Amino acid sequence: MNIKKLTVFSGIDKSGNPEKFKKFEIFPGNTVAIVGPTGSGKTSLVTDIEMLAQKDTVTRRKILINNKIPPFSYRQDPSKNPIVLITQHTNFLADLRVDEFLKLHALSRKMKSRGAVSKTLMLTNKLTGEKVTENMKMTVLSGGQTRALMIADSIVIGNAPIVLLDEIENAGIFKKEAMEMVREEGKIILFVTHDPVVALLCDIRLVMKNGGIAKILRTSEREKKARKKIIEQDIMISVIRERVRRGEIIKF
Ligand SMILES: Nc1ncnc2c1ncn2[C@@H]1O[C@H](COP(=O)(O)OP(=O)(O)OP(=O)(O)O)[C@@H](O)[C@H]1O
Ligand SMILES: [Mg+2]
Repeated sequence: MNIKKLTVFSGIDKSGNPEKFKKFEIFPGNTVAIVGPTGSGKTSLVTDIEMLAQKDTVTRRKILINNKIPPFSYRQDPSKNPIVLITQHTNFLADLRVDEFLKLHALSRKMKSRGAVSKTLMLTNKLTGEKVTENMKMTVLSGGQTRALMIADSIVIGNAPIVLLDEIENAGIFKKEAMEMVREEGKIILFVTHDPVVALLCDIRLVMKNGGIAKILRTSEREKKARKKIIEQDIMISVIRERVRRGEIIKF
């Protein structure tokens, strides 16, 4: 499946008012942050995309792929579905070692497994605090580690060109390097995030309000400058976070 473009046509907000744009387009390599208060419709937006909504959901949005209505087979056949959604509730049920699982997956996608396994683990470990190694059993991974592995797997090995992440707790670690890997792989990635750094690192920022997309922002040059400073401060905070986690006493 060669995705050249994902288009979201506007729908209505919770009050029934039309969203204030006609459509917006997302291209391979684009990263999109979805921000907004609790209950503002963030999950509904990613669900619309996952379900390839055709004005048949409460939001009345319409999703096109490559300017066309996606064939119904996309929704039915997982191997054809170009979209993968990872949420807090996503879990593995495989009694395999991490490397066995990744090799099997790479093999099924006719990829060279050596490179794929190490690259997937590299990305996984950028996304998770506690390291995942190839000889660990999938069943001993924590919820956060599992999701980090699933995200990395779907980006490096998975065939889905569109990856949706809804409030995964690791989104906070989805920082600069991880974002660059996503861009290099040419995937489209949309994620619900509360982390200002992640939001500013994205190309596009969708601001949700009352069930509708209230703003579509593109990270400006000015924001890119501000982002540098914010990242520096964020790194400082994460160093402190790690030290607190390790049980150190913090003093300046
Ligand atoms: N455009 C809309 N029209 C009608 N109902 C909507 C619309 N958008 C969202 N809703 C409804 O509003 C409720 C909250 O939406 P949703 O779960 O998407 O919010 P959220 O931003 O993901 O919230 P949280 O931050 O708590 O996860 C849901 O019941 C959803 O069906
Ligand atoms: Mg939600």
